[in-house]
Amino acid sequence: MCGIVAYIGPRQAYPVILKGLKRLEYRGYDSAGVALLNHGLKVYKKKGKVADLEESLIGKDLEAHAGIGHTRWATHGEPSDRNAHPHSSASGKLAMIHNGIIENYTQLKTELTKKGYQFKSDTDTEVLLNFIEDIQKNNNCELEEALRIALKRVVGAYVLVLLDQDNPDTIIAARKGSPLVIGIGKGEHFLASDASPIIEYTKDVVYVNDFELAIIKADELVLKNLGNEKITPFVQKLDLELTAIEKGGYDFFMLKEIFEQPDTIFDCLRGRLDVNNRTITMAGVQNNIEQLKNANRIIIIACGTSWHAGLLAEYVFEELCRVPVEVEYASEFRYRNPVIHAGDVIIAISQSGETADTIVAIERAKEQGAFIFGVVNVVGSSIARISNAGAYTHAGPEIGVASTKAFTAQLVVLIMIALKLAKEKKSIDDDRYVYLLNELHNIPEKVKEVLLLDDDIKKLADKYKNAKDALYLGRGYNFPIALEGALKLKEISYIHAEGYPAAEMKHGPIALVDDSLPVVFVATKDSYHQKIVSNIQEIKARKGKVIAVISAGDDMIPKMADDIMMVPEADEIVAPLLSVIPLQLLACYIGIAKGYDVDKPRNLAKSVTVE
Ligand code: AGP
Ligand code: GLU
Repeated sequence: MCGIVAYIGPRQAYPVILKGLKRLEYRGYDSAGVALLNHGLKVYKKKGKVADLEESLIGKDLEAHAGIGHTRWATHGEPSDRNAHPHSSASGKLAMIHNGIIENYTQLKTELTKKGYQFKSDTDTEVLLNFIEDIQKNNNCELEEALRIALKRVVGAYVLVLLDQDNPDTIIAARKGSPLVIGIGKGEHFLASDASPIIEYTKDVVYVNDFELAIIKADELVLKNLGNEKITPFVQKLDLELTAIEKGGYDFFMLKEIFEQPDTIFDCLRGRLDVNNRTITMAGVQNNIEQLKNANRIIIIACGTSWHAGLLAEYVFEELCRVPVEVEYASEFRYRNPVIHAGDVIIAISQSGETADTIVAIERAKEQGAFIFGVVNVVGSSIARISNAGAYTHAGPEIGVASTKAFTAQLVVLIMIALKLAKEKKSIDDDRYVYLLNELHNIPEKVKEVLLLDDDIKKLADKYKNAKDALYLGRGYNFPIALEGALKLKEISYIHAEGYPAAEMKHGPIALVDDSLPVVFVATKDSYHQKIVSNIQEIKARKGKVIAVISAGDDMIPKMADDIMMVPEADEIVAPLLSVIPLQLLACYIGIAKGYDVDKPRNLAKSVTVE
């Protein structure tokens, strides 16, 4: 989620905020805005870049010593001027910026609408702001108290900062699940999503914790919990340089994004998977359930890594929903003369939502009456707009060209859709449905365990970084992961790598095998396990070097493989979410070991918006 900046003190607030927003641009965003407090509230905001906002403000009254600024990564309501932050409350006396997702905003909006509230935007943020103001009005209490009451009802993630026209010498902030750093200056305070907008003014910072409120004046910082008890701020000295802050302390965005995956998978499940009530809530699916249930065929269209997610979805949908699925490269589908029936459902998968081949392929399918369901990361992107329905992956901005966290988020969304559909179609029994819900629910914690392999995989990368070729082999649900692992290695380290179904080797590729060829097996415990053991033996018999991704407790493959990467056990349908992580790390560390900029691999673009 994107960026917040705020300032209160003797300086002019606007220049501090504007520069701070520019420091946060690396995080990716779609809109920007500021609110300044001086003889009333002035709110300026627009879709587009910070520079566009800056240009639009030339000549405006920007005099103020307190203000808030925001770069938005849309989650609720497409990128637009009216959906940009800051939002103003119904009375116009409050302005708020917010990073995160308010999961129960629909319920809050219904309550407020019944009270006569009207909304200027489609965002969850504006609902929360008016919920806070409504409480302040009804309880006739201070804003700080109203915020505490409101946050006890809020479900979701937030960092929010409020300006109150009636208290121009105070800024109030709160956080749960989204980052907030407070910079402590001399007679001034700075707030931001990370320290990059702060570090040039002060190195004394306080990292606000979940469920804490900050009540900030130019010369006073008070921290409280939701129980209105004061908390002593823990002041730390910043020791990171600016570039290191932007990458969260990692050397590359790709590494940061690989390590973000426990959180991004959790964000993807947030508000959707409810193991206690045994439900999956996805409005895009629910509102089109008949269309999806009655599909006589599902055609998945995508490119690259997103295509690999589609291939896994084919296995999952056919297994759980018993519906025929085809997976098409968008670049091929768009040019051949495909046979599409009106009852066909197209699932279009795209991180950027702007891939030209996928867009045109969708248009071709729509011309023939197909229903389009988009699985997209960028809210309001072209594919999101031309789809009939969809589900966002909520992975946040992915800066590294090689897709990692967006891929696992795609898998999570696709598995949730298949489970929801299978439940509706009664194509799986309740026990299996509940079991798989729990398996999915446990993935974020298991991904954290996989990431502990970090140092071991660095050593593996050093051992194999000079390979000229590599094979990646898998069966069943692990075959798409073998393809993805090979693509990661190719696009990051420029080593030629091919992915194959493991059983396909005997039909030719096994001729490649000799003692110089590393063969990576994705061999987690599943219904194919005995078969993949035989495939490993075939490679070993020809002196191939075997690197295997295996499940904890596997006592067979470690005796055969040259190197192993062990991941926690999980059902074969969700295990790919774990087995792909070591392959992402292996490719990344080999690229780094070879001295490459893994964030910007040669010849590649983050979004291929041309054919
Ligand atoms: C994956 O690491 C690559 N960056 C590339 O294959 C990418 O997945 C492909 O271009 C599709 O992009 P999209 O998901 O934004 O449509
Ligand atoms: N959920 C809010 C919105 O969609 C905030 C998004 C963000 O974190 O930037 O406007």
